[in-house]
Amino acid sequence: MTPLIVDTDPGVDDAFALAVACRAPEVDLLAVTTVHGNVGVEQTTENARRLLGTFERPDVPVGRGADRPLVHLLDRRADDVHGDDGLGGKSLDFGPPVEESPRRAVELMISALEAATEPVTIAAIGPYTNLATLLSARPDLESRIGRFVLMGGSIAYGGNVTAAAEFNVWGDPEAARRVLAGSRVPTTLVPLDLTMRVTLSDAWLDDLAQASPLGAALSSTRDAYLAVYAARFGTPAIPVHDAVAVLEAIVPGTLRTMPMPVDVDTSSGPGRGATIGDMRGSEAVELGRPVDVALDADATFIRAELRRRLIA
Ligand code: BDR
Ligand code: CA
Repeated sequence: MTPLIVDTDPGVDDAFALAVACRAPEVDLLAVTTVHGNVGVEQTTENARRLLGTFERPDVPVGRGADRPLVHLLDRRADDVHGDDGLGGKSLDFGPPVEESPRRAVELMISALEAATEPVTIAAIGPYTNLATLLSARPDLESRIGRFVLMGGSIAYGGNVTAAAEFNVWGDPEAARRVLAGSRVPTTLVPLDLTMRVTLSDAWLDDLAQASPLGAALSSTRDAYLAVYAARFGTPAIPVHDAVAVLEAIVPGTLRTMPMPVDVDTSSGPGRGATIGDMRGSEAVELGRPVDVALDADATFIRAELRRRLIA
């Protein structure tokens, strides 16, 4: 079983992702760590605790992480998409909440890495503030991280929070730059280019809700999220960005990747938070540290996998 840590800002699609991670027989879920993002860290931590309660994983420690980005304060959250409580107004339907660990997110990551007998996968599905802090605090532990799987960025799709930037990278561009361009950990980036193509329709979610109590609970969070994306797509369907990334963390190779260096715009201009992938092929790969960018996948297979894992 691959040891896995999930760093998250739940979030509707984070909830789907955590459900998959909590139930995956392929992984040993060592910890869930929280971060500011879709809503503030107080609420993302409560949501993580409630979700783990629902998923019957009181054995997994939940550690509270950063409440703000490394450098610049944020002026907005994603409560228009995820609701004031981050779970579409349904957070109180989840639980009972598991205990919060007395250890903070980065402490939990450090102790898990120190104790690990094999390389640990870290899946980050919120802003990467905790990951950047870990890398700076304990560079000696980098070699114990087998892989980062990061939901975030956009290579050619454009942004979702600004014209140029994807939400998780925009949420802490300095941290994203540290993680993407400044570490040696083998990294898979799952950007909007792919996740916006793996959508779940309203009908699919109705079917999931019928199929299991867990499916019903997850589907119940969809309303605001669906309204935002229905307006964007012109059809009632939602992307579940974070669940796609977590599937790749659980079963490496689920997504098709292309190696390329990826840097992040940390300027204060309109490009702030944009990810710049260098697609000039082997010439580019020699210039910077290549990241495996997931640009393609079998969307039908992913939907089937999600359904299978969420109804079992
Ligand atoms: C990412 O931003 C958040 O709103 C989602 O949870 C996901 O992690 C998509 O851009
Ligand atoms: Ca998220």
